[in-house]
Amino acid sequence: MAIGVFDSGIGGLSVHRALVQRMPQADFVYLADQANCPYGGLPGEQIVDLVRQGCIRLFEAGVNLVILGCNTACAIALRRLQQTWLPGHRQTLGRPVNVIGIIVPTIEAATGLPWEHEAERRGERVEAVDVVGIFATPATAGSRVYEIEIDKRSQDVAVFTEPCSNLARLIEAGAPQDELAAVIDAHVHALTLRIGREPDRAILGCTHYEIVANLFRAALKPGTPLIHQPAAVADAMQRYLARHPEYDSGHSGRRRFLTTGEPRTQNGHAQTFWGEPVRFEAA
Ligand code: DGL
Repeated sequence: MAIGVFDSGIGGLSVHRALVQRMPQADFVYLADQANCPYGGLPGEQIVDLVRQGCIRLFEAGVNLVILGCNTACAIALRRLQQTWLPGHRQTLGRPVNVIGIIVPTIEAATGLPWEHEAERRGERVEAVDVVGIFATPATAGSRVYEIEIDKRSQDVAVFTEPCSNLARLIEAGAPQDELAAVIDAHVHALTLRIGREPDRAILGCTHYEIVANLFRAALKPGTPLIHQPAAVADAMQRYLARHPEYDSGHSGRRRFLTTGEPRTQNGHAQTFWGEPVRFEAA
């Protein structure tokens, strides 16, 4: 058996790389739904349907555990599929299968840290609110999942989400670095204006953005900590597998990369991120 990683495109490679580094012996199948990418501006029902089809394809490829390496899929589809579709599909397949997400591990990593900020004001030391800036697709931002989930765990954190409507599409299309840098600068600026100051920390709440995390680092105030979603997911995944020995992740280090789109070598951003050319075969 193998672990499946699903995304609309190349963004999930960020999560995939962290998982491979952590579990080099495990077998992985990556599926990019590039025929329908980007998801971030699609209606919710369509996203649910596409994610369900992606999971079915991965289960057919011998996967027993699917990680949705896509914040949009997690925000819009994960709970629906877990509650309404997965139990029946599990019975149809007659073997243990599951679909898990990446947002909760990210939020646990963000709120689990003792994180207090103190500011000097009129000679007194006063505690300032911890402001977290989230950059996400319009669908993820509209779901308010980060605000809701962070608020459940910590009331001392103010969350501001910036919807970046075109960014995943541009990264997926291999837009040049300077074009991406200008778009990212504009989003960081817009978020800063809305907050009234720079965020104390940031979360790249779309896995595509992690592929160009260096451009976010350059646009944010120097030293702004980025919560590292891939590492948080890899930690959570290891804990999950230790608790669930029924999900055998394989032992031969096999990797497959599938796409619903054009089978091809992925663009320069994917290649730079991955460290070598990544070729996807037809799903
Ligand atoms: N990489 C995805 C995410 O994390 C999806 C981006 C998109 O398809 O719009 O949200």
